[in-house]
Amino acid sequence: MTGAANGLGRAIAEGLLAAGAQVVAVDVAEPTHFAGRAAVLVVVGDVSDPALADRAVGAGVERFGRVDILVNDAAEYPDGGLVDMPLEAWKRVWEVNVTGCFLLSRAFVRHRLATPPTDGVIVNISSGSARSPRPGGGAYAASKAAIESLSRTHAMELGPHRIRVNVVAPGYIDVRGWSDAHPDRASPALRRRLVAGIPLGEAGRPNHIADAVCFLCSPKAQHISGAVLDVDGGSLAGRFRLSPG
Ligand SMILES: NC(=O)c1ccc[n+]([C@@H]2O[C@H](COP(=O)([O-])OP(=O)(O)OC[C@H]3O[C@@H](n4cnc5c(N)ncnc54)[C@H](O)[C@@H]3O)[C@@H](O)[C@H]2O)c1
Repeated sequence: MTGAANGLGRAIAEGLLAAGAQVVAVDVAEPTHFAGRAAVLVVVGDVSDPALADRAVGAGVERFGRVDILVNDAAEYPDGGLVDMPLEAWKRVWEVNVTGCFLLSRAFVRHRLATPPTDGVIVNISSGSARSPRPGGGAYAASKAAIESLSRTHAMELGPHRIRVNVVAPGYIDVRGWSDAHPDRASPALRRRLVAGIPLGEAGRPNHIADAVCFLCSPKAQHISGAVLDVDGGSLAGRFRLSPG
């Protein structure tokens, strides 16, 4: 899985490990959190590097025999409105969030197709902003919308091979305690504003995302493919901010 060093990726990796999986933890930052754990293979690299995907899948096969699940979590999310967004920043979001997902998915599926029985699971991490963007976050939101579209296409292409492809779309998740890279990303004022838009009245926790991913990877989700599962406390249900009072 990618993006495993910090935040939701770290929590998803812990969830998969707790469910009995062995994990290839891919990240551009060294995932030091998993040091010394035999069930975790660390692969350091940039998901936008075309050579990384084959290296990661190959290392997983060499260490664990096969790779059954792919979770694409790594993402960059720089702010930038239309007028101010530098081209290089725009391209970088696309290369990491979309091309990275494409490259890892392609390497994973090529491996699965060469290793009968050709089943498998892909879970791509999107965002509520794919369908409810905000000003100044256009590149990120568009990249996540692309992930959701790509996932549906891949679900259709890969269904005949018994490879399921689904999306988990987090709302605002408080990653404090789960990230060395961004230990306290939102200011208290921003956090209050974000929580005010959540019908369930609190920020999501990383284990909420891990639980959703583990469900989609499990046999209990064996007839679910091409789905987008919002894990957002109801944020996308409607215009909650206009509720009376
Ligand atoms: N935290 C939230 O509230 C939230 C909300 C919606 C969606 N998401 C999505 O969840 C995922 C994880 O978000 P997070 O909050 O944990 O972010 P994060 O920044 O804490 O973690 C992202 C991880 O991805 C890694 N990464 C970044 N670029 C990489 C690259 N090029 N190659 C390899 N690894 C790379 C980072 O090093 C980091 O470990 C992302 O896809 C994000 O868009 C998060």
